[in-house]
Amino acid sequence: MSINVKNNVDWVGKIDWELRKFHGDEYSTHRGSTYNAYLIKEEKVALVETVWAPFAKEFVANLAGEIDLKKIDYVIANHAESDHSGALPELMQHIPDTPIYCTKNGVKSLKGHYHQDWNFNVVKTGDRLSLGKKELIFVEAPMLHWPDTMFCYLTQDNILFSNDAFGQHYATEYMFNDLVDQSELFEECLKYYANILTPFSPMVIKKIKEVLSFNLPLDIICTSHGVIWRDKPEQIVEKYLEWANDYQENQITIIYDTMWNGTRLMAQQIAAGIKDADNEVNVKLFNLAKSDKNDVITEVFKSKAILVGSPTINRGVLVSVAGTLEEIKGLKFKNKKAAAFGCYGWSGESVKIISGILEESGFDVINEGLKVMWNPDDESITKCTEFGKQIARL
Ligand code: FEO
Repeated sequence: MSINVKNNVDWVGKIDWELRKFHGDEYSTHRGSTYNAYLIKEEKVALVETVWAPFAKEFVANLAGEIDLKKIDYVIANHAESDHSGALPELMQHIPDTPIYCTKNGVKSLKGHYHQDWNFNVVKTGDRLSLGKKELIFVEAPMLHWPDTMFCYLTQDNILFSNDAFGQHYATEYMFNDLVDQSELFEECLKYYANILTPFSPMVIKKIKEVLSFNLPLDIICTSHGVIWRDKPEQIVEKYLEWANDYQENQITIIYDTMWNGTRLMAQQIAAGIKDADNEVNVKLFNLAKSDKNDVITEVFKSKAILVGSPTINRGVLVSVAGTLEEIKGLKFKNKKAAAFGCYGWSGESVKIISGILEESGFDVINEGLKVMWNPDDESITKCTEFGKQIARL
C-alpha cells in the first residue's frame, strides 16, 4: 500500500491502529499511531525513514511491491529511534551496500542499536544530495528530540521531512491534515508536544527560526507520525512557536491521590475556593490513580498553576503522585505556579516533600502548602476554601 503525497513522493509507512502504549509504558496512544516512511522516485531514488521493527517484514515486502529494492539509491535516516529505524536491519539485508545518510550522532545511535557497519554517509546542515533535477537539503536538528535528529527538504516539491517534529500519535487512513477531525488532530498534537517536546522548547524556537531564515517555500510537511500537513502547513509551525513560548491557558489543575477520601475532599474544597474567588478560571481535578498520566501532563502543560496533593504514607507520598512528579520534573515546565496539599495522621511529611520536588522542577511554589490532620473537619474545610481563594488571588 502506498499513498501519493505529491508528484514522485509516496507514503510507504505503516498505520498502527492497535498501539496503546509507546516508549514502553511511558506514553499512552489512545488513537494508535503511524510510522511514516516516504519513497522519492526521481532520477535517483531515496527512501526517507523506515518503520518500527514489528512491522519490518511487512514494510519491506510492501516496499518491494512499489519498487525493485535494488533501485533504491539512498536511504535517509533522519532519526535513529527504533520506531523509525526498526526495519533497517531487514531492509539492509536486501541492499547491504546502499548508502545511509544521517548525522554524525545518527551513526553512533544506529551502530548502538544494530551493531552493523552499514555504508554510513554523514551529513550536516546545508549539505545537499542530488536526486537528478531535485535535491534533498539536510538540516540538523539536535535534541528535537534526540541528539541525532535531522530534517530534510525536497526542492521544487517544497516538502519538509520533519521526522518527529509536528507529528502526532494518531492512526488514520486519511493521512492528510485537511481530511481528519480537527479537534482530534490538535488534541493529539498538543499531547505530543506537551509530553515529548516541552523540555526542548528553547531549541524548538531556535530551530524553527533557523529553518524560516532559509526562505525555502513550504508546501507540505511530511512528519514521521500521524498526518501529513498539506493544508496550510504553517499552522502547525505557528502552534509550535506558541507552545514553545511557555504556553499557558487560564487554567488551574489540581492533581492528587487519596487513601481514605481526606485528600480528595481537600482537593474539592480548594477547587471551590478558587472558583469563589475567580469564576473565570478553568479548574480541573484529576485523581492520579484513576487518570491517564500523559493526559494529565497535557493538562499541566496548559495550566498557569498546579496544585498537587497526597496524604502521607510511610513518611512519603503515594506512588501515583511520586511517579507523576518524576515525569513533571523531567519535562522542565516554565512560568507556572504551584502549591501542595494533603492529609496526614501522625508524621505528615507529604506536603513538604511535594513542595520540594515542585521547586526542584522549576515551579514557582507560592506558599508552604496546606496540611490537614486526619479527615478534614469543618474548620479544615474552611481552611481549604481559603487556601483556594488565596491561590486564585496569587
Ligand atoms: Fe518517533 Fe523519536 O521517535
